[in-house]
Amino acid sequence: MDNFQLRDGALHAEDVPLAAIADAVGTPVYVYSTATLARHVAVFREALAGLDDPLIAFAVKANPNGAVLATLARAGLGADVVSGGELARALHAGVRPQDIVFSGVGKTAEEMAQALDAGIGQFNVESEPELDMLSAVATARGVTAPVAIRVNPDVLAGTHSKISTGGADNKFGIPYDRALAAFAHVAALPGLEVRGVAVHIGSQLTDLGPLEAAFGRVGALIAELRAAGHRIATADLGGGLGVPYDPAKPAPPSPAAYGEMVRRATAGWDARLIFEPGRLIVANAGVLVSRVIRVKQGANAPFVIVDAAMNDLLRPSLYDAYHAIEAVEPTGRRETVNVVGPVCETGDTFATARTMDQVAAGDLVAFRTAGAYAASMSSTYNSRALTPEVLVSGDRFAVVRERPSIRSMVEADVLPDWLA
Ligand code: LLP
Repeated sequence: MDNFQLRDGALHAEDVPLAAIADAVGTPVYVYSTATLARHVAVFREALAGLDDPLIAFAVKANPNGAVLATLARAGLGADVVSGGELARALHAGVRPQDIVFSGVGKTAEEMAQALDAGIGQFNVESEPELDMLSAVATARGVTAPVAIRVNPDVLAGTHSKISTGGADNKFGIPYDRALAAFAHVAALPGLEVRGVAVHIGSQLTDLGPLEAAFGRVGALIAELRAAGHRIATADLGGGLGVPYDPAKPAPPSPAAYGEMVRRATAGWDARLIFEPGRLIVANAGVLVSRVIRVKQGANAPFVIVDAAMNDLLRPSLYDAYHAIEAVEPTGRRETVNVVGPVCETGDTFATARTMDQVAAGDLVAFRTAGAYAASMSSTYNSRALTPEVLVSGDRFAVVRERPSIRSMVEADVLPDWLA
């Protein structure tokens, strides 16, 4: 359930007609629902009931908008960050430093220093050389870095290869077989305090089996580590639970089923569990509203050319991802079309041979499930301005990121003195 529903024949975000937002802000425009964000947080929390004080650290990469982060911070979420930029945004939005975990294979010394100065809760370290660097940075600052080691469990996640992370050939984590040695290495390094183990095998997972297999391996490792004398206080189980994109496909496992599996897989671990959901919290809390520029007859199906493009919503182009597309004011007539953007690449295609609401030039369409990895992955390709973002709450809406002016884009480039 989300809060983008038809009322009197027009798609609304909560109590606000999407057409009113499009008229006020222009298109394309991302629209997020506060009520849906809050609902997803509540559903996930409920799914984890019975666990002892779990930390839910929202994966900021999914949607780093400041107003979205502030909404989630007020709902009590922590943050999983992967860059100094995400760390700055999380702190600015009011996430408590101790509720921030820092993931990623390429943390720089500067980013480590920034995170140590902020007093974050945990670094999820992904390699031996990263341990050495963090030790040096912490020691130089006279502080101790709280560390979990991310292990690569060598489990196939069964999702798109570009978003699988837990296979032995993926760049993430320390290979399972070297984990024990890596923990021994940490114990010998100054400036580091071992806190736990972390794992994340991929995103948009539609089967709990691979997750349970990975958690099983983590449980076995925790026992081995404790037997070797290490103190394991936390276990970070990452994110990855899939969400429904295509209403015609079976829905992924529910958060409740995920929670049940977690309780089963982690029984007796005696560690504080950390979760890093991204997509689950925000994906269906957002839509991308776009206007049809024109409809062009192709050799076969018509091309519906909309004013959003692959630079605004990359997922279909990059992962062949499905996003439902609906008319904002549907007439009830349906048609089979190709939906494309204005960018000069064939890859700028949102849907091929899609049977959807019939639309004409000037009509508005909504791309569903566009709250995660959508605005956050946008670019200015073809010198298109980044799409603005709007947050709705009840009958109110606010622009929470402005559309940059073309002038500001032009002026961002600086001529060298020999061309000035
Ligand atoms: N934790 C770590 C360490 C991660 O790498 C990720 C996502 C998450 C948590 C959150 O995963 P989620 O709960 O959102 O599945 N751009 C792709 C998704 C990339 C995911 C990268 N890592 C897409 O649009 O499908």
